[in-house]
Amino acid sequence: MAEPAVDVGDLEVSYGSLRVLHGVDLTVAKGRTVGVVGESGSGKSTFARTLVGALRPTEGHVRIGGVDVTAVRGRHRTELRRKVQLIPQDPYSSLDPRRTIGEALAEAVDPRRANVRRHRDEIVRWLDTVRLPADTVSRYPHELSGGQRQRVAIARGLILRPEVVIADEITSALDVSVQAEILDLIARLRRELEITMVFISHNLAVVRQVSDEVLVLYQGSVVEHAATGELFERPQHEYTRTLLNAVPGAPGFDIEAA
Ligand SMILES: Nc1ncnc2c1ncn2[C@@H]1O[C@H](COP(=O)(O)OP(=O)(O)O)[C@@H](O)[C@H]1O
Ligand SMILES: [Mg+2]
Repeated sequence: MAEPAVDVGDLEVSYGSLRVLHGVDLTVAKGRTVGVVGESGSGKSTFARTLVGALRPTEGHVRIGGVDVTAVRGRHRTELRRKVQLIPQDPYSSLDPRRTIGEALAEAVDPRRANVRRHRDEIVRWLDTVRLPADTVSRYPHELSGGQRQRVAIARGLILRPEVVIADEITSALDVSVQAEILDLIARLRRELEITMVFISHNLAVVRQVSDEVLVLYQGSVVEHAATGELFERPQHEYTRTLLNAVPGAPGFDIEAA
């Protein structure tokens, strides 16, 4: 069997004495999307930061495209950016307000020079891929809507064609209609670019729309990991059923509680 794009085993992550992730295992085959769902505080963002090498686990391994990200240091970090990219929840705080979108994308391609003119064709092509007009290049973050900024964040995450993309709550700050547009965009990009993705959300209904498989995180442990259809039809864990109860149209959805 081919080596998985993501291979995580026995992962333990702590902040000082606070132990957040406990024995998390995850493999993702190339071209697949695994959704990670869990309530606020369950350790999703901690997991995301560990997957991109920004946090070091106290135990376990994280290999992306065969590379142990926990061991990557110094100049090899540049290479790591081509392995794995994080698309954050809030693009407004991750985009520099004084820099144009073109500059932000040029910086993603080449952090040292960040030369827009040199990379203009590539930048415009990626803007088009996420359905933003070419003149977005010269716009500033505050001139864009929340949905447009999230499209920029997606383009920035993909522009280096990383082997794996980690999306952490990328629709959570958006209105429902804009959320649907971004999920459509993600679904299309998955088909067209055969992206390998870990798609994180507290919302099981959102995860369902873009994931081949779903992993359920509860207080830092994996309580269930199954194919998306299987999870919705035959949830094994009590906590998964609780999450399902909040999803309109799912078996057991409680209209009274919604
Ligand atoms: N930088 C940090 N320092 C200390 N504790 C943190 C830090 N980041 C998150 N935590 C704690 O770790 C736990 C998991 O947080 P997080 O991974 O952000 O969960 P989620 O993304 O699922 O909401 C929470 O108890 C949170 O308070
Ligand atoms: Mg989070």
